[in-house]
Amino acid sequence: MEMKQIELKNVNKYYGRNHVLRGINLEVEQGEFMTFLGPSGCGKTTTLRVIAGLERCQEGTVVIHGETVADSETLYFVPPGKRGLNLVFQSYALWPHMTVYENVAFVLQVQKWEKSGIETQVRKALAMMQIEEYRDRYPSELSGGQQQRVAIARAIVSNPRVLLLDEPLSNLDAKLRLEMRSELKRLHRELGTTMIYVTHDQVEALTLSTRIAVFSEGEIVQTDTPVEIYMNPANVGVARFIGNPKINLIPAVARPDGTRVRVSGVLGDFVLPWGAFLPGEEITGEQKCLIGLRPEHIAAGSPGEGPEYSVLTSMLAGSETLIEAQREGERILLKQLGFGNLRAGEPVYPVFSPDHINIFREDNGKLIKRALA
Ligand SMILES: Nc1ncnc2c1ncn2[C@@H]1O[C@H](COP(=O)(O)OP(=O)(O)OP(=O)(O)O)[C@@H](O)[C@H]1O
Ligand SMILES: [Mg+2]
Repeated sequence: MEMKQIELKNVNKYYGRNHVLRGINLEVEQGEFMTFLGPSGCGKTTTLRVIAGLERCQEGTVVIHGETVADSETLYFVPPGKRGLNLVFQSYALWPHMTVYENVAFVLQVQKWEKSGIETQVRKALAMMQIEEYRDRYPSELSGGQQQRVAIARAIVSNPRVLLLDEPLSNLDAKLRLEMRSELKRLHRELGTTMIYVTHDQVEALTLSTRIAVFSEGEIVQTDTPVEIYMNPANVGVARFIGNPKINLIPAVARPDGTRVRVSGVLGDFVLPWGAFLPGEEITGEQKCLIGLRPEHIAAGSPGEGPEYSVLTSMLAGSETLIEAQREGERILLKQLGFGNLRAGEPVYPVFSPDHINIFREDNGKLIKRALA
C-alpha cells in the first residue's frame, strides 16, 4: 500500500497583509518525486519552508509520515531538526574551511554518529555523487557543479526520509544542469527517497517528476503526472505555462447540434460527441471557448484538408521546423519533423485530430474537454 509521507491541509500563510499561501492542499506519497512548478513569487519556497518547519503557517495542518508536525488549531509545532527531512537550498553554502569529506561528515558528527559509521556512510554518499576523488579538496578548489554535488551528498548522507530540494541546479550552466538532472533521477531511483523538488523550469519538472504541483499566486492549480499536465492542463494558465513551443489557443464557439456538439471558428467547423465534454461541463447553449492544440499535433495538409492559413515564418530548429501561420488575424504554430519546405506567404492547411484538442471555457479558463492519448 502506498503511504502518504507528507500532507498539507488547508495551509494559509501571510507575510504581514500579504496572503502568500492560499489554502494549499497536497499529499505526497512515499518514494515520489514531487515537483513544485510555477513562476517567481508564487509560493514554492514558502511551501517548502512550511514543510521543513522553517516557517509557521497561520492556518492549516502539516502531517509527516502520519504524524502531525504543525497544527494551527492547537499551535502544536515540531522544530525542523526533528522532522526527519533534509533541505538543499538554492544557495547551498558549503563550509569553506572544511574539505569535501569534512563537509559531508560534519552532518553526522552533529548527529553524534559513531566514527566508523561516519566513515562508511560518507564514502557511500561521495560514491553516489561520484565525487570520491575530490574528498580532500576545499570548496574553493571545485567547480560549481562539483560543489553542487557536495551539497547534495551532504543532504543524503544521513538517510533522510524526505529530501527537499529548492532549485538546486539554478547555479549551473545548461550542460551541467542536464547532467545533474539525470544524476538526480538516478539518485531517486537508487535511494527510493521521497523528494520534493522546486523549479520554475518546466522541462526539468516534466523530465524528473512522478507528479507535478503547479503553483499560481499562492495556490496549487493542478497536481498530476507530467503527461497528464502536458496533455490536459486544468486551465488556460497551466496550458500556457507548460510546453515549449507554446500551445495554440484558438478562439471558437461550441453549441449543441442534435445529439452532438458543433465547434466553429477560424480553425473551421467540426463536431464532437456530446460525451466528449467533462461531467458538469456539457454544452447546453452557445459557449465561447478556446481550443488548445499543441504544435506537434498539427500537420500541414493538402488544399481542402484544412482551413487555408498563410505562412508568416518557417524556422528550422535542428531536427524540426516550426511554422507560424495566420488566418483572419489569428496565429497558429505547427511543428514538423525534419526540414520544412514552406516559405513565408505560401498557403498552409492545418490538419488535426479532434482527439488531440483541449477545449477551455473562455470566461473562467477551465478545461472542459480532455485530449485522448
Ligand atoms: N520572509 C519574507 N517576508 C515577506 N515576504 C516574503 C518573505 N518570503 C517570501 N515572501 C513573499 O512571499 C511570496 C512567495 O515567495 P516564495 O519565495 O515562496 O516564491 P517562489 O515561488 O519560491 O519564487 P522564486 O521562484 O522566485 O523563488 C512572494 O510574494 C514573496 O515576496
Ligand atoms: Mg523560491
